[in-house]
Amino acid sequence: MVRAVHAFAGLPVNKTAIRRVLHLEDSRFDHELATFALKSSDFQYELSRVETLESFVEHVQTQPLDAIVADYRLPGFTAIDAWNALHSQPKGLAVNPPPFIILSGAIGESAAVDAVKQGISDYLLKDDITKLDHVISRAIEVHESRRAKVIADAELAKSERRLAELTEYLQSSIEQERAAIAREVHDDIGGSLTAVKFDLAWIVRNSKDPASLDHARSASEMLQHAIGASQRILHNLRPAILEQGLVAAVQWLASDFERRTNVRTTVHAANEAVNLSKAIQLVAYRTTQEALTNISKHAEANAVMIDLSDAEGVLTLEITDKGKGLDKTELDKPKAFGIRGLHERAKTVGGWLDVSSRPGVGTSIILSVPLKAGLSDYHAEVAE
Ligand SMILES: Nc1ncnc2c1ncn2[C@@H]1O[C@H](COP(=O)(O)OP(=O)(O)OP(=O)(O)O)[C@@H](O)[C@H]1O
Ligand SMILES: [Mg+2]
Repeated sequence: MVRAVHAFAGLPVNKTAIRRVLHLEDSRFDHELATFALKSSDFQYELSRVETLESFVEHVQTQPLDAIVADYRLPGFTAIDAWNALHSQPKGLAVNPPPFIILSGAIGESAAVDAVKQGISDYLLKDDITKLDHVISRAIEVHESRRAKVIADAELAKSERRLAELTEYLQSSIEQERAAIAREVHDDIGGSLTAVKFDLAWIVRNSKDPASLDHARSASEMLQHAIGASQRILHNLRPAILEQGLVAAVQWLASDFERRTNVRTTVHAANEAVNLSKAIQLVAYRTTQEALTNISKHAEANAVMIDLSDAEGVLTLEITDKGKGLDKTELDKPKAFGIRGLHERAKTVGGWLDVSSRPGVGTSIILSVPLKAGLSDYHAEVAE
């Protein structure tokens, strides 16, 4: 026999495997008919008969099954009672029972519709018993494809969770790395430059030779330039301005932005002394920084407003520009990571980010962080 393999919903069907079917049927004769109907199938069937609800429950609990075929009306119970009994079984069976098909001499249309509504896979009249193989096959295929979808969905959710964890990890390791480089720049390069500065100042004070004085002075100028550069680098790596609090740091970012871009930028802070963990301050600072960078790169804005508040126990930071606005699809650009990174950063301190925009009117980036007692301290080490 040629064992054809066909696909349903992308799933190959294995025709060599034996199909184990439980037949809930009180008539031995009808069971023989069903067995006979399945004989001509391409599949090999193993049909077991039970006729009481107790033996049905015992069988489903102990035997692996590919499908259940049940008469509708049995002595003292119906197929629906068996279906319900199946659902009161331990987890696996209740959540993912095998396909259940009613094979009945006479099932009224409303009973059949009811049965299918309850989740029963299909029903077949005994007069059409020659179609039993086809009906079982279809039910198994639907069941398999549903199961495959559940597995695929779970895999997808798992890999999304992992990706979010990885991004979160990367964000905090970037901050740790920055802090380490900042320490090196400050202690090593900064220390050496200061020492050289003192030596040059000594030469300028004590040298009588005009040529040496000239060289020492130009070296001093270059040195001043190098000190300025290392302070700038330091500032970007680890904003010392945060030592003066988030409001001061945001104000500093705003005035630096205004100076560089000539775009009017106003800061409104409801409370000067917002008391926040370092981690939250850093997230808010980086959010402002990225939002302002985006405004200078993309918005073509003529004004920017920054609002900072800690009303009702939630830190809210809103950076709004009066610019060209953005379309939500722009946030999914393959090589744009700024706003995606901000979403992940917000999560590291138990917060979230909203982006709202109207074309031609402008864009708002809103960071919200609930300031529950203890939470901010808990996250403090993560971003430092
Ligand atoms: N304030 C804004 N006004 C108008 N468009 C914006 C604004 N902010 C972001 N966008 C749009 O949203 C896109 C995504 O921004 P995002 O910060 O994620 O990436 P990027 O700035 O392009 O690159 P990256 O931040 O990775 O260097 C931008 O490319 C831009 O098209
Ligand atoms: Mg950006």
